[in-house]
Amino acid sequence: MDGFITCMTQAIGKTPLLRLDRLKAHLGYEGEIYAKLEQLNPTSSKKDRIALGMIEIAEQKGLLKPGQPVLEMTSGNTGTAVAMVCSAKGHPFICVISKGNSVERVKMIKALGGQIVLVEQAPGAEMGKVSGEDMRYVEKVAERLVKETGAFYFNQFQNNDNSASHEPAALEMWVQSMGQIQAFADFIGTGGTFMGYARALKRLNPAIRAYAVEPHGLAYYKGEIIPGTSHTIQGGGYAKDMVIVDKAYMDGFLTVSCEESAEMCKNLAKIEGVFAGLSSGANVAAAVKALNGAERGNHFGVVVNDCGLKYMSTDLFCL
Ligand SMILES: Cc1ncc(COP(=O)(O)O)c(C=O)c1O
Repeated sequence: MDGFITCMTQAIGKTPLLRLDRLKAHLGYEGEIYAKLEQLNPTSSKKDRIALGMIEIAEQKGLLKPGQPVLEMTSGNTGTAVAMVCSAKGHPFICVISKGNSVERVKMIKALGGQIVLVEQAPGAEMGKVSGEDMRYVEKVAERLVKETGAFYFNQFQNNDNSASHEPAALEMWVQSMGQIQAFADFIGTGGTFMGYARALKRLNPAIRAYAVEPHGLAYYKGEIIPGTSHTIQGGGYAKDMVIVDKAYMDGFLTVSCEESAEMCKNLAKIEGVFAGLSSGANVAAAVKALNGAERGNHFGVVVNDCGLKYMSTDLFCL
């Protein structure tokens, strides 16, 4: 205990690293998996790191002035994280999203003081599903509003400060594992987490291997796309080149199915008491695959991205 904090942003980071001993006993793989419990950040996801990191870097660069609005176009974990950091730091937050998004996180962003701008879906679009065309509509509105409001455009998909903001977490992982991490696996969304950890860990030990995790049939970086495939692992698996990813950092590729990810989520909850979302299950399932193959006997680091509570409206934890 270090006494009290004076701003909610000070509660971000310094998350525990859990060695998955119970999962190992249950599944019988050789080696170790260390899980960075990033769902213990204030808005229950790793995105609190980039919300704080990118906003503070923008402040330092003079790109974001006191009281200036921040704009982003996601209602996902990044939206709630940016809403929290903006609330704590006194920046208005404008969140531009498609009408096709679910309402849960929208409510959380509003509760945290964010302003929601809903954008009509493209003609013929399906409610509850946001298509690429819907996203282009959202992007147009976001770009117009940035100009009109003079907001700082957070832009997690294009801004390299995204990956830089995960580097402190990777250093924590290294220290907490007492320098035992030999490999790292991460489900690619923007690629910010993958790049931040890969860069920081390889700086500490260039022999560390970084594996890109992708959904079965949508493994863009591995080069295995099966036309017509879709997936339910929220937060990534976009099957296209991500601006902030440098493929040179990828030492290997692991694919997981939605079923494998969901099964691992259930195992994590029941066996380890770790209540996590699908992409976290994907990361652990991928590490187990590697430990049953080329990485047998080695020590893996993975991130628990967000909390299972965010999936209550999905059928992930249906009995
Ligand atoms: C739950 C979840 N998992 C994984 C990711 C992917 O992380 P990154 O964007 O750093 O690649 C995200 C990103 O939105 C996410 O919300």
